Amino acid sequence: MDRIVIRGGTPLNGVIPISGAKNAALPLMIASLLTEDTLELVNVPRLADVQLLLRILGNHGVDHTVAGKRPGQSLETGQTLRLSARDVIDTTAPYDLVSRMRASFWVIAPLVARFGEARVSMPGGCAIGTRPVDLLLTALERLGAEIEVDGGYVIAHAPRGLKGGEIAFSKVTVSGTHVALMAASLADGTTVIDNAAREPEIVDLANCLSKMGARIGGAGTSQIVIDGVPRLHGATHEVLPDRIETGTYAMAVAVTGGDVTLAGTRPELLQTALDVLAEAGATVQATNEGIRVHRNGAGLSPVDVTTDPFPGFPTDLQAQLMALMTVANGTSRIRETIFENRFMHVGELARLGARIRLDGDLAVVEGVDRLRGAPVMATDLRASVSLVIAGLVAEGETTINRVYHLDRGFEALEAKLGRCGAQVERIRA
Ligand code: EPU
Repeated sequence: MDRIVIRGGTPLNGVIPISGAKNAALPLMIASLLTEDTLELVNVPRLADVQLLLRILGNHGVDHTVAGKRPGQSLETGQTLRLSARDVIDTTAPYDLVSRMRASFWVIAPLVARFGEARVSMPGGCAIGTRPVDLLLTALERLGAEIEVDGGYVIAHAPRGLKGGEIAFSKVTVSGTHVALMAASLADGTTVIDNAAREPEIVDLANCLSKMGARIGGAGTSQIVIDGVPRLHGATHEVLPDRIETGTYAMAVAVTGGDVTLAGTRPELLQTALDVLAEAGATVQATNEGIRVHRNGAGLSPVDVTTDPFPGFPTDLQAQLMALMTVANGTSRIRETIFENRFMHVGELARLGARIRLDGDLAVVEGVDRLRGAPVMATDLRASVSLVIAGLVAEGETTINRVYHLDRGFEALEAKLGRCGAQVERIRA
């Protein structure tokens, strides 16, 4: 397995292009199942999760072509995917594929909406908590699908099509909202989603569905209203910038010091996180190109942060913030409210010399003067990248094992950091 070796202590200076958002690209790709026409997606990041989802969609009979620059040619340009679900041959999503990426479970919505049936493996456990699918299934039932679970598979039936209905989520859920949006777009009648997730990726999916002919109002607010249509058509849609990648590199600059422009991204996608960075002592400015982050000289101040659904502080930046706070001048408190057990990075940060105490969903981080490099590994994507951030500021060499987690969600990480002066090297197995 590949490893990444970082020699810490160098400030970052330069420009980092921000890729298209993984968590928008995945549901957008799944939405291709809603139409027999071609869906063209521009600015799709080159990630292991995108490749895996192409395989999963291919298993259903979705054809795809990749246009645009080839890997390695440019960090600035994402790939253009053309997806055609004209000849869907199989409405089953098997265990060996779904178990490797939770988001692939979401194919259940377009499959049952367009074909009246779907058989999708339960995604199973996950490193960041139990992550059930009960809310997704209730949403589909509200639209008239009959759901049964048999042999580890969820079987959804709607032989006469889905019907509009009222979906009131008991908890804000990104996955539930994506599923409800896709299913309701092809349902007969009007659907109202209450307590909908407001994440930018929800808005991006709704915008793409609207280009495909869906009638959706209120995306980005807690109430979304969808007037179903009998069929959707093809469209071209550009994936929005990755706010988690943006926030991750912003924290990397805040920890090392330096001056970096995060190009092609927008502050409103992560304003709460940028405000936290400013409170910690980084200077954050919106520019024509994107976002400029710099920090010179002065130390970092501790912060008190709770993760929340958008527009709150994102759980997907919690581990990275914690890495930053390990070297702040004082004690920070970071509370994780979205996923239980999303603190796997704590033990690994401790290997680098961090002082963190866990108390249920609260991490108390006592800033230390310096971290020292060590071999580390992590069990999920955001935890892994938090170790990269810590490695960038640690004295000496940090080796990050299990790099495949990073490849799931960060395009060209070493190249992007390397061209800003970081000493980051991938050792191929
Ligand atoms: N939940 C339920 N029942 C459900 C669905 C969700 O109890 O049926 C719970 C979850 O267990 C969790 C909470 O509701 O405690 C929120 O889950 P949500 O559905 O919002 O999360 P998700 O859609 O599974 C997406 C991202 C995650 C991100 C979360 C929260 C994608 C592919 N994944 O997950 O991203 O952390 O929203 O913002 O969009 C990542 O990229 O590393 C990642 C984990």
